[in-house]
Amino acid sequence: MSGFVSEMRRTGNGLLLRISIIAAIGGLLFGYDTGVISGALLYIKSDLHAGQFAQQAIVSSLLLGAMVGALLSGYLADAISRKWTKVLSGSVYVIGALGCAFAISAPMLIGFRFLLGISVGTASFVAPLYISEVSPPKVRGGLVSFNQLAITSGILIAYIVNFLLKDVTNNWRWMLGLAALPGAALAIGMLSVPHTPRWLVQRQRQDEARDVLDRLRDSDPDADIDDELDTITEASKEEGASRVRDLLAPKIRRLMTIGLGLALFQQFVGINTVIYYAPTILADTGLTNSSSITQTVFVGITNVVFTIVAVLLLDRVGRRKLLLTGTVGTVLSLLLLGVYFSSATLQHQAGYLALVALLIYIASFAVGLGPVFWLMISEIFPVGIRSKAMSVSTLANWAANFLVAATFLTLGSLITRQGTFFLYAGIAVVAFAFFLAKVPETKDRSLEQVQDTLFTSDEPTVKESA
Ligand code: BGC
Repeated sequence: MSGFVSEMRRTGNGLLLRISIIAAIGGLLFGYDTGVISGALLYIKSDLHAGQFAQQAIVSSLLLGAMVGALLSGYLADAISRKWTKVLSGSVYVIGALGCAFAISAPMLIGFRFLLGISVGTASFVAPLYISEVSPPKVRGGLVSFNQLAITSGILIAYIVNFLLKDVTNNWRWMLGLAALPGAALAIGMLSVPHTPRWLVQRQRQDEARDVLDRLRDSDPDADIDDELDTITEASKEEGASRVRDLLAPKIRRLMTIGLGLALFQQFVGINTVIYYAPTILADTGLTNSSSITQTVFVGITNVVFTIVAVLLLDRVGRRKLLLTGTVGTVLSLLLLGVYFSSATLQHQAGYLALVALLIYIASFAVGLGPVFWLMISEIFPVGIRSKAMSVSTLANWAANFLVAATFLTLGSLITRQGTFFLYAGIAVVAFAFFLAKVPETKDRSLEQVQDTLFTSDEPTVKESA
């Protein structure tokens, strides 16, 4: 079986690549905001006289905004299209980023971070949604995961910007304001992309859908436009489900369990404690602040590198194998972190072990749960209900993100740092069992074939052996 790059060369074209990259800028906004705030906060707190409560509100208002954004855009993506929802999200982001950069008080900053969150929450799932609906099956895993690659690149860019601007006057304003650039790139770039064929068919705009498919598949020797269009049309007629309450219908409920399970486990294995608190965790191993910040950059680089590995492998080895293997790595590295923090001897004599464990952890997440959650929720739901089901799964993911971020430090004082890592390891074991039992393989199938097997089968899920 050929890999992502050779398959793209064989079947993809410049248009498909270009619009997938533009749509993935949404992920860059998501990642940049995730990574930038810990660095910026160091300076904001003295400049804007923000106490502990205000600081927490500055961090978490984005997560709350993201929940609102995820919810609203479930409607928007159907009502005004995936394309225009993303144009809107980029534009709101520019206003949010500039508002943060020019904020003169903590409440003003909190308000603009909330607005930014609305945009990030929207972008976080409309990007995978858009890309999955324009991609041919054989490269869909890699293309949709451009979004996760953009998220991880955004985090890394933010770590680097934090590092480079550390001695510049008004640095936090630059750190937050610079994000307006990718926001503008997203809004302007999205003006030039076509609507997705699935959305056009849903709106009975068959001729335009055919035209877009023609342009997207013009160099694909396997493409049969009539067949693809018929399948999309049939699938969209069959379901007819489109209201939020349809999410509770028994057949959709089964799919929602998979989407929500992936959403919650993705956060409850503790990924963002590492992303938000890596310097704190590393400083606890006895490193100075400046070397823990430098080592955090290694965490960021590992995240990007292993996401590239995932992009290259998802369409070759499949989603399930990567998900399951990555989750095993997550369990082992969390156990290692727990053991490390439990043992005074290890902490004295093998300080490097904490960094090694963090790197294994981030690499395991980056090849598995990181990209696979966003990819699977863009694949498993039928088109009529896809954007709403994705929006609810995304909302759950942001809510869990919020919960983990808000409890990590408190958990540390209640059950110790090692206890917290053992707890996450336990959750990761349950996650593994859930994935093994419930998550189907979707590689090489069209979205319609995926939904046909999942939606109409009476089996709990369609599986391939791991
Ligand atoms: C998660 C984020 C996380 C990021 C880390 C994403 O898939 O949804 O919460 O910060 O991966 O790479």
